[in-house]
Amino acid sequence: MSADRPYLDDGTQIEARVTDLLSRLTLKEKFRLLASHGRHRIYVTAPIKRLGIPSFKTTDGPLGVAMHSSGFKKNTRFPATVSLAASWNRELTHQVGVAMGKEVRAVGRHVLLAPGINIARTPLNGRTFEYFSEDPYLTKELAIPLVKGVQEQRIAACLKHYAANNQETDRRSSDSIVDERTLHEIYLRAFRAVVLEADPWSVMSCYNKVNGVYGSENKYLLRETLMDKWGFNGLVMTDWFASRPIETTEGCINAGLGLEMPWAMRYKTKALEQAFNEGHFTEETLDDLVRRNLRVMMLTGLFDRPEKLPEGSRNTTEHQVLARRAAEEGMVLLKNDRNLLPLDIENLKRISVHGKHMRLKFGRLLKGGSSAVKPPHEITPLEGLEKKVRGKVKLFPGDTFADVAIVFVGLDHSKGGDSESSDRNSIHLDEEQVSLIKKVAEDHLRTVVCVIAGSPIAMDEWIEDVEAVLMCWYGGMEAGHAIANVLFGDVNPSGKLPLTFPKNLSDSPAHSTGNPRNFPGDEEKKVFYDEGIFVGYRWFDEKNIEPLFPFGFGKSYTSFEFGEVHLSKSNLRKSEDTLSIEVGVTNTGDLEGAEVVQVYAHDFQSSVERPPRELVGFEKVNLRPGESRSVSVLVKAEDLAFYDVTKHDWTVEPGDFKFLIGNSSRDIHLDADFSFG
Ligand code: BGC
Repeated sequence: MSADRPYLDDGTQIEARVTDLLSRLTLKEKFRLLASHGRHRIYVTAPIKRLGIPSFKTTDGPLGVAMHSSGFKKNTRFPATVSLAASWNRELTHQVGVAMGKEVRAVGRHVLLAPGINIARTPLNGRTFEYFSEDPYLTKELAIPLVKGVQEQRIAACLKHYAANNQETDRRSSDSIVDERTLHEIYLRAFRAVVLEADPWSVMSCYNKVNGVYGSENKYLLRETLMDKWGFNGLVMTDWFASRPIETTEGCINAGLGLEMPWAMRYKTKALEQAFNEGHFTEETLDDLVRRNLRVMMLTGLFDRPEKLPEGSRNTTEHQVLARRAAEEGMVLLKNDRNLLPLDIENLKRISVHGKHMRLKFGRLLKGGSSAVKPPHEITPLEGLEKKVRGKVKLFPGDTFADVAIVFVGLDHSKGGDSESSDRNSIHLDEEQVSLIKKVAEDHLRTVVCVIAGSPIAMDEWIEDVEAVLMCWYGGMEAGHAIANVLFGDVNPSGKLPLTFPKNLSDSPAHSTGNPRNFPGDEEKKVFYDEGIFVGYRWFDEKNIEPLFPFGFGKSYTSFEFGEVHLSKSNLRKSEDTLSIEVGVTNTGDLEGAEVVQVYAHDFQSSVERPPRELVGFEKVNLRPGESRSVSVLVKAEDLAFYDVTKHDWTVEPGDFKFLIGNSSRDIHLDADFSFG
């Protein structure tokens, strides 16, 4: 059969197969391939029987294979993206990517609608939990291995939501007004890097407008930047219904939009025919879009024999253990007075446990938007603790007099929490939870607070009352075991905050003016990004604002000392150059543990304003008690660049720089000078 139809031959090169199939398509069939057709097919495209083109199938989302888009199947629920980011572990996100790719394959889908790589501009964004960080460097460093992992299974990753989709309020109609430098340096940077280094096969356009133009018809963002400048070869699909408010069909076609989801609105066959016949777009442009779609179909093995494809698997013990390990590595110990943690199981008789979060499960159908993965089981914190202490310590839910009290508080995926389609109203816990913490702390000598949430939480009103705080995020299906393992010291926490935790909302960049033009938008729903490049810690450093907890912060049950620093060279000449920074690190405590060596760059002199420091490298190292190691952190000259609006490109200016080396953006232990040019 494949002799007369080379596109079916899985031994032939993909580009040749694409060219062959494209040449066989009628104009109408080309149009059919640009959208999903049929209201029952909201995650998949319609097959074209004449040519044996099967339905091309997508599934949400960032936490694994979501129930609503996988034929109502239960699948492994991985920790939230923000929790993966808090691990600062590239190898781990790669493993999670591989596992997610296998699960997608096992449910017979071809595209995973993840990762979400938007930047945390405001701590109120309801989808912060689905994204990595406020920092584009950390985002790209962790998204690159994740995308590679997914695609090694021949499943397309889909970078979303492109671009400047940084809030949920009015998400389908707001207009992000961002200057060119900020757009590239903060909001596009991770997209660009992932495109250049991981070659993602698909990108999802955003709902919102960017500088007056909707993402799905934004020629500057799609055709000129993503495709022409960065060389993106894959397909761009809309976010679901994102094309609805757009007026013209040709606007989307000429911008580079290749797939309209979840069904045809601008890309109805009739509308396409009319626009084409009236000469609003050329066949060449059409062919380019169709070619992209066919290419991704080929890459994901749509036309290949099953035995030629990687094997899928889901809900395996391996994936569940990985989900647990990832949850453990993401946990961030924020406070630990008098070394209350880890709890000593041998020396405790009674523990009292409090708060509704000890019994909450998060994996439910449609709960959490694109992250609604329902797992076959989900271990709550209470179940995790019960299993851990069984036969040794008595657990009393709500009991007052115990050796130690643990309070579980946080957010959930309901409106006003960590949720798609709405933002939070406040960065504080609700009054009921604050009173609970205070009451428990009053009744006990020692209190631990476990925070289960996906975004920054203000803690000033209660943190002084308690001894320990553990940021647990949303840890996926094994969260309860992971939390118990950290509380009892089977696992030494090594997570670091990927987000600044502000004391007050008004301390953060999008909220400093309190003017709706900055958030959530003026009467015309325009959101002005007036803070420019000063997002996240860049803002707190520039304005000298003391955060509750800085970006990169996280404690351990052991202690580390930074020794000497050596650079492999003190001068970088070209933007392709790299250097390595060798940093001596010693575990000076009594427990094995991991530390993240973080390298920030400071530019002494620049023709443009620059943040006081920017993350340019990091490495996580595990050390036994007393062990010393020289940790090598690779820095690329291109990561020292800023976006130069006079050249419309990235540039590194010759001059002197300093590396600031530490274990948070505010705990700098070493520095080293170097120059560029
Ligand atoms: C979300 C996307 C998601 C899509 C499909 C949209 O509402 O913004 O992240 O992938 O729905 O479920």
